[in-house]
Amino acid sequence: MRPVELKKDIYWVGSVDFDIRNFHHYSRAPEGSTYNCYLVRDEKTVLFDTVDAHDYAEMVKHISEICDPESIDYIVCNHLEPDHSGALPRIVRLCKPEKIFCSAMGLKSMTNLYDTTGWPIEVVKDGARLNIGKRNITFLETRMLHWPDSMVSYLEEDRVLISNDAFGQNIASSYRFADECDRSLLSASMKRYFYNIVLPYSPQVLKTLKRVQDLGIAIDVIAPDHGLIFRTPEDVKFVIDSYREFAEQKPKLRAVIAYESMWNGTAKMAAAVADGLEDEGVPYVLVNLQEAHCSDVMAELADSGALILGSATRNNMPMVNMMACIAHVKGLRPQNLVGAAFGTYGWSGEAPKMMAEALAEMKADVVGEPLKCYFNPKAEDLAKCRALGAEVARALREKCRNAG
Ligand code: FEO
Repeated sequence: MRPVELKKDIYWVGSVDFDIRNFHHYSRAPEGSTYNCYLVRDEKTVLFDTVDAHDYAEMVKHISEICDPESIDYIVCNHLEPDHSGALPRIVRLCKPEKIFCSAMGLKSMTNLYDTTGWPIEVVKDGARLNIGKRNITFLETRMLHWPDSMVSYLEEDRVLISNDAFGQNIASSYRFADECDRSLLSASMKRYFYNIVLPYSPQVLKTLKRVQDLGIAIDVIAPDHGLIFRTPEDVKFVIDSYREFAEQKPKLRAVIAYESMWNGTAKMAAAVADGLEDEGVPYVLVNLQEAHCSDVMAELADSGALILGSATRNNMPMVNMMACIAHVKGLRPQNLVGAAFGTYGWSGEAPKMMAEALAEMKADVVGEPLKCYFNPKAEDLAKCRALGAEVARALREKCRNAG
């Protein structure tokens, strides 16, 4: 792996993590990830963000192929989450920068995460400009996109937006640019990333996109801190349009059936619900939470407008993977869903009602009564499941029609 020049004197100097699958300990990253950081050579040499602590040596190796790391004058911290700042203390010790720039909230994060005694930190306000020689950098705060400290850096003359987590995707690859990558893999990875990380901040995404549009900022390159870089006009448009679409969360004619079965009864119910959806011509995906991760459910929701939850009752509640799934999904605040719930029971059977309540708390339009079935579903139980699937399909079709 070598540093890569994005535009004259602007280099990717990050690291590629082919091994990681458990991203931030809450979301799966089936394709691995990267920690991107960027070096700009001008009258001042500037490093934008760093990498996870365990990849410090890789970052320094890349920087060293361009210049002496000790010649770095400025470090810009667009975001302090440790995957971007973990290597900060060591690089600060190595290069002794003249200045370290961050947002006001970034200062709070930085000083609480690290011993910053003696660090030359300078807080930049939203819209502040910094001249580094031939270039000017504008800092734009993007609070809660996705942390309070988040900001982006715009290299005006080069029209390069260093966008931090925004526009990222988890793809480890020898490629650095989106136009080198398989489009369907890129698209799937963008959806998984957005729906598991950025989704609750969809209003901020729409606001930021509008602000960029209103400011008339021309962008040739979007360089995020994870995954591939967008450098063609088509790809820059693609990623911006995709973000707008993800954030709008318009209902889509497809259903996710996430379920967890104990002795296979709930699995049979799930299959019958799926038959009902199929009867009405609505595509679906079955996600078995004994095998899949709750972040897989969110990745599937990117293309869906209905979330149907099924779980056996165990100890008066849904099974543990379903409980985790509900917590994960609810925290990400998906909008505009149709929902339904079902499950088997042997003693008490609280799970379907609890799942329906959780869906209602997510403001989903919950269809039908929570369906519960004693032990092994019989033909009449499966017929009710099939009818429930069909009811969800009709409600979803209507919702999609109303959304235009
Ligand atoms: Fe990629 Fe919010 O860290």
